[in-house]
Amino acid sequence: MTITQTAAWSALLDHHRALEGTHLRDLFAQDAARGERLSAEGAGLYLDYSKNRVTDETLTLLLNLARETGVEAKRDAMFAGEKINVTEGRAVLHTALRAPAGATVLVDGHDVVPDVHEVLGRMAAFADQVRAGTWLGYTGRPLKNIVNIGIGGSDLGPVMAYEALKHYAQRDLTLRFVSNVDGTDLTEKTRDLNPAETLVIVSSKTFTTQETMANARSARAWLLAALGDESAVARHFVAVSTNAEAVQQFGIDTANMFGFWDWVGGRYSMDSAIGLSLMLAVGPAGFHELLAGFHAMDEHFRTAPLESNLPALLGMLGIWYNNFFGAQSHAVLPYDQYLAYFPAYLQQLDMESNGKHITLDGRAVDYQTGPVIWGQPGTNGQHAFYQLIHQGTKLIPCDFIGFCQTLNPLPLEGGAPHHDLLMANVFAQTEALAFGKSLQQVLDEGVPEDLAPHRVFDGNRPTNTILADRLTPHTLGALIALYEHKVFVQGAVWNINSFDQWGVELGKVLAGKIVPELHAPAAPELRHDSSTNALIRRYRARR
Ligand code: F6P
Repeated sequence: MTITQTAAWSALLDHHRALEGTHLRDLFAQDAARGERLSAEGAGLYLDYSKNRVTDETLTLLLNLARETGVEAKRDAMFAGEKINVTEGRAVLHTALRAPAGATVLVDGHDVVPDVHEVLGRMAAFADQVRAGTWLGYTGRPLKNIVNIGIGGSDLGPVMAYEALKHYAQRDLTLRFVSNVDGTDLTEKTRDLNPAETLVIVSSKTFTTQETMANARSARAWLLAALGDESAVARHFVAVSTNAEAVQQFGIDTANMFGFWDWVGGRYSMDSAIGLSLMLAVGPAGFHELLAGFHAMDEHFRTAPLESNLPALLGMLGIWYNNFFGAQSHAVLPYDQYLAYFPAYLQQLDMESNGKHITLDGRAVDYQTGPVIWGQPGTNGQHAFYQLIHQGTKLIPCDFIGFCQTLNPLPLEGGAPHHDLLMANVFAQTEALAFGKSLQQVLDEGVPEDLAPHRVFDGNRPTNTILADRLTPHTLGALIALYEHKVFVQGAVWNINSFDQWGVELGKVLAGKIVPELHAPAAPELRHDSSTNALIRRYRARR
């Protein structure tokens, strides 16, 4: 039986037909308390989901679907360490990375929590030395530049969180994140750094990823060109990986390796040792605060009834638009400059997890799965793409994220401070998207009849608003875990494996075959399609 054959799905289809024509204006007019009633709170985050095209009945039916598709049992199986990543035969236990010391999480009968805290302790000891300037480089100088080399989950989490928590960072350390195999990335990020004062963290779960290994080799050459001695590598390079053998082969002493485990997916790994660069920036205490925020949301997700469970609500509302309204994408719009990289981080988290069309039992789905995730910080987006969200032909559900307190209060003489201006935009946008402006209102304003249609806002465009008091490490941890678990809920309903990523393999394999064809001195015999052959020939002729 597929999910489209469940009673809950059929009920939602009928309900959608009945509700499709209802406007948010009517839903708010019918219930004066709607704005406060349709809200929930957990781990320090307040979610207002009242500006969604839902009634109480919609919510009941959506949660019925969650229950009928076994979301709660699947959640419990994940937390219990069952091997729910069936295509790779692995447990999925990023939640164990933030379990407090003393908790027990078993993988194949082994308690992994002491292992997690052992690595955290080694990371903290190392971070304390680097931050205090007592971990010295080969020439005896403290290391004040930190270059993280990694890609995907070994880059996006650290760079996003570093940018998000810059306010709390030790500012005399310079952090750079190199991910792209394009030599420009490494060149530009190291051109003003002194190798004698630089620490390189090679972050790779597998320690085989082409981009990361190429950048790591070039970074080592850059260091050795300046310091001239192979033994300098031990003072300037550390590794974060699950693959000790490959780390050793690369020439990094495993004493300088911080490990993690195969039950941590790459895109769920920023709170493992993959977060070493972040810990160096914000310190062990800040990192532990972040972990506490993650854990608070884990506990909320694990224990709160679905009716008030933030990840469940966000997940099921997403399914409502994705599967019943035909929405193709979902925008995430943080109203905080520090969260500039958050949408990019979520793109991997969500799209690599739920960009699947085969169910857990190996059949093609007959329904839509993961949406396209996109966004950028407000208010910049307002002056770029919001036009389409307001008046275009596509339905784009949006998450607005804002904070009641700013980390950078800037008063403006004779007027409201910057933060009030910023937050006024959050509230105004969701209001405009929900309620719009009718033709009558436009005409009443005296707009000529021929121009009036251009000035009408249909409204009825759904948004969630997530409000927190302040962007702290704890808040960030809770926010990331909120989206991790939202993705989980959706994957559970769609009956797909949110924890593998076979879709990235084919391109990697083909690139591996093409590299020698580009590199060969003599023109190789090409056996691709005519397009690929022609492109390779042109590249070889003109490079
Ligand atoms: O893009 C595929 C992927 O395997 C991601 O899932 C992962 O985060 C990234 O590559 C990097 O992998 P690694 O940490 O092993 O270098």
